[in-house]
Amino acid sequence: MTALITWPGNEAFARGLATRLGSSMLPLVLRRFPDGEAYIRFEGDCRSQPVAIVASLDRPDEKTPGLLFLADALRDEGATSVGLIAPYLGYLRQDARFQPGEAVSSKTYARVLSGAFNWLVTVDPHLHRNRSLSEVYTIPARVVHAAPAIAAWVAANVKAPALIGPDSESAQWVSDIAARIAAPWLVLDKTRRGDRDVEVSIPDPTKLKGHTPVLVDDILSSGRTMIAAAKQFRALGAANVIGIGVHAILGGDALTALHAAGISKVVTCNTITHPTNGIDLTDLVAEVHEFRPARAQRPARGTTIRPKSARKER
Ligand code: R5P
Repeated sequence: MTALITWPGNEAFARGLATRLGSSMLPLVLRRFPDGEAYIRFEGDCRSQPVAIVASLDRPDEKTPGLLFLADALRDEGATSVGLIAPYLGYLRQDARFQPGEAVSSKTYARVLSGAFNWLVTVDPHLHRNRSLSEVYTIPARVVHAAPAIAAWVAANVKAPALIGPDSESAQWVSDIAARIAAPWLVLDKTRRGDRDVEVSIPDPTKLKGHTPVLVDDILSSGRTMIAAAKQFRALGAANVIGIGVHAILGGDALTALHAAGISKVVTCNTITHPTNGIDLTDLVAEVHEFRPARAQRPARGTTIRPKSARKER
């Protein structure tokens, strides 16, 4: 059985997983030296057993060096494999070079994590130009979809819902959720002009008459995408607009701004700990994690340890 280590901030999610999997937990000591460098120590015995670290990778710059140190320490102390359960996987958005000199951070970050961990499990990664994680990650990477849990929440909490995606990329998850609860759905036309400057339009508002708009996005970051969408529906006279996000990054004033735009309820999945968390994904992640094979050897940097066609992503 895989033992789990919780990265600070992921306690509830890791506890939920451990309960479902029957895993033991290895305590982690993490502190900062006066210059800000990370001191890492795990407690307990990891010899001859697989270990997984539960660490959501929002604010990845703060966490990544410590995670790499911890993975090495576990392997040095005898763990047979070290996996990463990252309910949110950061550094996926910059997946291409749009201007000369730009860093393609998704590629570099994937190379670093692939060199440190034996496998990875994540939830709805933000894949755009890369169609699958296996295009950048060279370790087995499993994807969990939040759609079944979101569909169950909507069915239990919203009368006559219509599922709305803010852009064409969102069609994949919005159509999946809608199909599960036999609700109508559509995606909006979105133009992003800057980090906080987003415009959307509704292609066919008549389709939604008599329904409660339920906006669903994978990432809620500045909240500007959802705010732009909510304003359109409020202008059309929708009395109640619900906003659902898989990953609640929601920095600064984002949550206040979402409510100010007329969204009556903002609910998110618990991939990133946040007061809006209302949809628990630990069951879905535990289901996948149980099938992870234990791997004895650390993959060599950049080595594909099984052919693309054999990798399981769903
Ligand atoms: C973009 O492609 C994503 O799916 C989200 O729509 C975006 O990341 C949301 O960001 P924000 O909340 O800053 O508008």
